[in-house]
Amino acid sequence: MIKIGLLGLGTVGSGVYKIINENNISIEKKIGTKIKIEKILVKDINKYRELKLDKQLLTTDPNDIIKNPEINLIVELIGGEDPAYKYVIEAIQNNKSVITANKLLIAKYGDELLSKARGNDVQISFEGSVAGGIPIIRPLKESLAAGNINNIYGILNGTTNYILSKMTKDNQKFEEALKEAQELGYAEEDSHSDISGQDAAYKIAILSSINFESYVSIDSIYTEGINNITLKDIKAADELGYIIKLLAISKRSKKGIDIRVHPAFISKNHPLALVNGVYNAVYLHGEIVGDIMSYGKGAGQMPTASAVVADIIQTGKDISYKRKTVHEKSSSLNHNIINIEEIKNLFYLRILVNDKPGVMSEVTNILGNNQVSLASVLQKHRLSSVVPLD
Ligand code: HSE
Repeated sequence: MIKIGLLGLGTVGSGVYKIINENNISIEKKIGTKIKIEKILVKDINKYRELKLDKQLLTTDPNDIIKNPEINLIVELIGGEDPAYKYVIEAIQNNKSVITANKLLIAKYGDELLSKARGNDVQISFEGSVAGGIPIIRPLKESLAAGNINNIYGILNGTTNYILSKMTKDNQKFEEALKEAQELGYAEEDSHSDISGQDAAYKIAILSSINFESYVSIDSIYTEGINNITLKDIKAADELGYIIKLLAISKRSKKGIDIRVHPAFISKNHPLALVNGVYNAVYLHGEIVGDIMSYGKGAGQMPTASAVVADIIQTGKDISYKRKTVHEKSSSLNHNIINIEEIKNLFYLRILVNDKPGVMSEVTNILGNNQVSLASVLQKHRLSSVVPLD
């Protein structure tokens, strides 16, 4: 029997509870044994919840789960660092396998947690931590293992993609679109993590660490969010044949790994340009397999819960069939992370200049003197005495 201890009953936790209860028969068939949620850690037992459940299941004491000898699988869905990190470490030390959707935890402490799990002969799985419902962690580790994947381009944050899509398609204001994303349960508790690109940085750090078998420190990732994107930028991109997306990039080169998160112009013909709303996508290029794109809902209750339950089934099967745990290796290589200053790229500049003769040549002189060449220039209509150059 698989007895689960659930840490957290927020958006994703409630989704996991629903799936396990509603799809119980098919899940048990897949696992090969009975499955039951034994206890759920919450902050407040008496808080109003839409989810109908027996209050006996709830506890405010983490030890009722972490130290409970009946429980063999712990699902951490609290999010953030504290107290999630502490609980996960204690769970592993108590010889319990752990499933988490906590990207911060895995991006920051993945190496340590995997090695502790190895030492205690248990598993830690985290499919739900990247791109919600899109299966990408297991495919990178297993299905694409042959592949020398050299490039990863991801739209990995549902909230910012929702906001940018609403701004692009409906001319909606940034704040309005963010409010909707929050109401729909896409955004983090502190939406700054979404908007600033931090959330996407955690996710690309996880994918890069797995793909390049090299620990990638969050601090080494150049991260820029969508805070400064305006409707004017989106319109200018459109006129030049592009869509703006918050892109997470990780590329192998001779110098090391070029890894960064920032808004990018994507050609309207590229498949990533068609990824809208809460959808995420991961576009990979491998030496052997060529191009691959995975697409699906990247945030929200049920897509993320779907990935968590998939991990529960996989780990549950290993427990039920007493399969020897195949321990993940912590990242063993130590690739250089290329500094953004060393990367040559195409950039988009939107400049407001005084409309006077010779101003264009002044701008091109400054760029030329700094070894910047121009790919295309768009001079827009006059606004009083000021002219925008894109
Ligand atoms: N806030 C995250 C997002 C949730 O918008 O993608 C899923 O990780």
